Amino acid sequence: MRLADRVQRIKPSATIAAATKARQLRAQGVDIIDFTVGEPDLDTPDFIKSAAVEALQNGFTKYTDPRGMLPLREAICHKLARDNGLTYNPDEIVVSCGAKQALYNAFQALINPGDQVLIFSPYWVSYPDMVLLCDGEPVFARTEPKMGFKPDPDQLRNLLSSRVKVLLINSPCNPTGSVWDRPLLEKVAEIVVSWRDLIVISDEVYESLVYDGKEFASIASIAPEVKERTVVVNALSKTFSMTGWRLGYAAAPKPIADAMAKVQSQSTTNPTSFVQQAAIRALLEPGFFPQEMRKLYQKRRDQMVNGLNNLDGVHCPRPEGAFYAFADFRCALQEMGLSDDIELMDHLLTKGRVATVAGSAFGAPGWLRLSFAVREELIAEGLTRLQNSLGS
Ligand SMILES: Cc1ncc(COP(=O)(O)O)c(C=O)c1O
Repeated sequence: MRLADRVQRIKPSATIAAATKARQLRAQGVDIIDFTVGEPDLDTPDFIKSAAVEALQNGFTKYTDPRGMLPLREAICHKLARDNGLTYNPDEIVVSCGAKQALYNAFQALINPGDQVLIFSPYWVSYPDMVLLCDGEPVFARTEPKMGFKPDPDQLRNLLSSRVKVLLINSPCNPTGSVWDRPLLEKVAEIVVSWRDLIVISDEVYESLVYDGKEFASIASIAPEVKERTVVVNALSKTFSMTGWRLGYAAAPKPIADAMAKVQSQSTTNPTSFVQQAAIRALLEPGFFPQEMRKLYQKRRDQMVNGLNNLDGVHCPRPEGAFYAFADFRCALQEMGLSDDIELMDHLLTKGRVATVAGSAFGAPGWLRLSFAVREELIAEGLTRLQNSLGS
């Protein structure tokens, strides 16, 4: 059987693969501490669930506008103005099945064969493959732990060319937790606007998880001329612990939003109808759930990062946002005589019964990603197991 070439170019998501392996071992009765998880461990708040149940009971079970129902797009505009200082019209919003689909729509709408997408590395696993699926070419700008995984504006200036169609920003970042503050975003924005046709895609799904009193800023809010060429992508997935509901959205200049809506209308049509009703409730009356989760996860971050830094041969920078510890295991690898992070990940899973994700999936060989969206006692037990299996 001959499959399409584009499928041969991409690989399955490494994070999903690592989580699946952990789940399979667990199903066989092996007691695994799972640090692969890319979702909050808390339940979706009841007030959001109730809104979905009400919508179902009221028979809200049919197709909606492919862009998402108008009251939801209005609620998204309200949220973007309230939280991010951004003014959008509902016809500049496209609601999708998760941020992933919003990103996919954006690439489909923007990328021609051979167009380059500049991605800061370490990066979220799906970006390069999404670009490859659109016949684009992912190119990478390395960020360094000593600079908090933030870009060097001079390096950025040198990497841009007329072939780069899209600059992809992900702050707070998965996997590094790096949060770009407003002065840095201003510098990046200044470089962006010097390129006539460059578009920014800003993946803001971890917006609500910024620690130590720091503030989140969207690059689109820097200046109107930046907003005019930015696609803001966000979702309810992480903010309201709604990963399985599949509800994300994009805010973009109308021609891009129209193109994204056209792509979506020929793929999934609309996001699930009753989930849209629940999303309206969450966005208009968010309550304190996001803040409470942030407080809880800041404590867990400290527990995880302190524990990792106590391990021999491991160094873990303190993430400023999101819920992943991204740790350098290169010394530990050498001491153990292992060849790479994949071997280390397998060793920790089979010998230590701790599931992690190898950094090479994020463009950072020798590193591991460990999610701290996990209960404190599991973090403690996982750290003990790591210590034992690194020593062995
Ligand atoms: C950086 C980043 N963007 C997008 C997504 C996808 O979000 P969603 O579940 O809303 O599709 C994830 C999920 O892990 C992510 O980490």
